[in-house]
Amino acid sequence: MDIMQVIRARHSVRAYTPRKIEPERRRELDRLVERYNAESGLHMQLRYDDPSGFDSRLAHYGSFRNVNNYLVLAGAKAPDLETNCGYYGEKFVLEAQKLGLNTCWAVLTFQKSAVRKLLAEGDRLVAVIAVGYGATQGTAHKNKPRERLVRCRGEVPAWFVRGAEAAILAPIAMNQQKFQISLENGEPVLRVAGLGPYTKIDLGIVKCHFEAASEHTIRIVGE
Ligand SMILES: Cc1cc2nc3c(=O)[nH]c(=O)nc-3n(C[C@H](O)[C@H](O)[C@H](O)COP(=O)(O)O)c2cc1C
Repeated sequence: MDIMQVIRARHSVRAYTPRKIEPERRRELDRLVERYNAESGLHMQLRYDDPSGFDSRLAHYGSFRNVNNYLVLAGAKAPDLETNCGYYGEKFVLEAQKLGLNTCWAVLTFQKSAVRKLLAEGDRLVAVIAVGYGATQGTAHKNKPRERLVRCRGEVPAWFVRGAEAAILAPIAMNQQKFQISLENGEPVLRVAGLGPYTKIDLGIVKCHFEAASEHTIRIVGE
């Protein structure tokens, strides 16, 4: 499947059916997490058939229902910990979508105390991602006007257009879209347009989408 189709089909899904993730899909997801941990140095953990991570009033208030599987994003304290979690967490999201699963990132509305118990000593919890068979496929989020998110003059290569389109469709904490993508002397650049509490995670997510769709590396400036 074309990566743009996967990116367009992905929406945050907070309510899940009781259908379990099948053993062959689990093996594939486990392999991905193992590979991403090896590449990044992060300590991501995938939990199956464990409702404790979203078993709280806050999670229900945030409209999460029947979350039985989730990815824990954590690692040792480092300046790029959050960006890395964003980048590799979103790689996982896109692969899960390819396997017919749905996902939703969470930094606020989940059961933090239960998830913290799973961490290795010294690790920091950055976020979790619910994963499973959604009760629906979700709906598209509202975007800021394209001109505010993408800056470019003159003729623009097709790969940049694809990357920018994919970036706009990325999941974003509180849907704030505090980023700007530009092409500077032929090089794609991702800038922070105003800091928010989860901006670094968002930047990693946006970078992942841009690179997956354009097959070009984008440099983050002003983290
Ligand atoms: C880093 C991050 C944290 C998020 N935290 C939460 C959360 O705590 N609770 C929640 O219901 N949604 C959360 N979301 C989901 C966003 O609200 C959602 O991605 C955004 O509204 C865009 O919608 P979409 O993912 O369907 O495109 C989070 C998303 C991201 C990227």
